[in-house]
Order: sequence, then C-alpha cells, then structure tokens
Amino acid sequence: MVGADRIPFHVAIIMDGNGRWATQKGWPRLVGHRKGASRVKEIVRSAPDLGISHLTVYAFSTENWKRSTEEVLGLMALFARYIRREAENLSSENVRLRFIGDRSKLNAKLQRLMGWVEERTQGNTKLTFTIAINYGGRDELVRAARHLAHCVANDGLDPEQIDLMTVAGSLDTTDIPDPDLVIRTSGETRVSNFLLWQAAYAEFFFTETLWPDFTPDHLREICDVARRRVRTFGGY
Ligand code: FPP
Repeated sequence: MVGADRIPFHVAIIMDGNGRWATQKGWPRLVGHRKGASRVKEIVRSAPDLGISHLTVYAFSTENWKRSTEEVLGLMALFARYIRREAENLSSENVRLRFIGDRSKLNAKLQRLMGWVEERTQGNTKLTFTIAINYGGRDELVRAARHLAHCVANDGLDPEQIDLMTVAGSLDTTDIPDPDLVIRTSGETRVSNFLLWQAAYAEFFFTETLWPDFTPDHLREICDVARRRVRTFGGY
C-alpha cells in the first residue's frame, strides 16, 4: 500500500501541455515552458510536506530533438537558467538535484552546470529531485545492455549472473527507488518512453490539467488518491 508511513515515496511526473497552454493564450510555446519551469519550482518546494522523498520530472525526451531549433535551444537555455538560479535555494532547502538521460549529447556548458549542481547538492537529504533530460526508457535500456556486454567482454562478468538487480544497477536510476506514482498532465494517457523499467508496478494518474496550471494542491489531491489505492505487486 502506498502510504504516508511508507518511506520512500517517489512521484514521477510527465509534465505535458506547456505548448497548448501558451497557444490557447496566443503566446509563443516558449512562454508555456517558462511558466512550466516556475511550476517546477513550486512543486519541488511543496513535495516534502506531501511526504514525497523522491520527485522525478520528464523535461526533455530523446524524441524532443525533433522540435524546432528555436524551441530546443529555448528549452536548453531554460534548464541552464533553472540550475544557475535554483542551486542556492535547493541547497538551503536540503534538496539533492540529479539528472538522468544521455547527457553526452548536450551542450558542454550545460553538462558542466549539471555536474556542478549535482556535486553541490549531493549531501542533501530532504528530497531527491531528478530531472530527465535527453532521456528515453528504451535508450536507457540500450545503454545498460551495452554496459553489461562490456562487463562480460572485459571484466569477466558471467552472463548467468545477470539478474534483475544487475540490470537495475546499470540504469541511470541506480540509486533511486522505483516510482510509486506516475502522473501525466494535459489529458494524454501515454507513457511516452518514461521510466519503462522502473514504473513496472507504479500507480498511474492522468489529469486534464495542463502543466503550467498544475499546482501543489493538484499534487496533494493526486497523492491522497494514490495512497488509498492498494498495490499487490502481482499477488493478493
Ligand atoms: C511537454 O509539453 C513539455 C516539455 C517537452 C518540456 C518540459 C519543460 C518544462 C516544464 C520547463 C523546464 C523544466 C525544468 C525542469 C526547469 P509540450 O510542449 O509537449 O506541450 P503540448 O503537448 O501542449 O505541445
């Protein structure tokens, strides 16, 4: 059972609807992403009071490179600005920030900022906040398979020793518990390549609310519903 007494409590969010939110108002899509970034700050701040120990958000997928150059560059700039402006607050709020995804494809300056803030906040314990950038569940599994193949070829790993733990330990999320609850905003009901392995037993919750309108009150309501649902992990 997911409960306030069950530690850790990991909530993962597919933040969808920024573009539609802006378009509905006659504004450029990037305005929606900017509003979305300010919602991220509010949600991070409210999470510990809702009993959330781990929060993961899907900020940029391996498929998002197909968007216009202007939107991709705008999003990358937004991530860099978020890190620079929030590093101090995250430290004082005892939040650890980390990233998942293939960062080797990101601009070198952004990669440096990501490493810098991860190091700066690594000892923080109130909330582990994970941002998925250039992340795809299938890509993560491919990279894990490649890593294990190298271990077999070069480090004497016996293929028969590869089990659930070995695979989980080769994923980007190696030190994060699996999500208890996955939320997707904006009325879409797809998983879109997010945490494919890790969400095997997660509760899913879909809301019509567009991400820029998603508040800590919405999150509180969804957590309450999720905590009332019973999870059996395939048993009774
Ligand atoms: C999906 O909405 C959203 C994204 C691809 C980007 C998410 C980014 C943010 C919320 C801003 C910054 C985040 C951080 C962590 C600082 P969409 O654009 O696909 O919306 P649409 O489906 O309405 O077009």
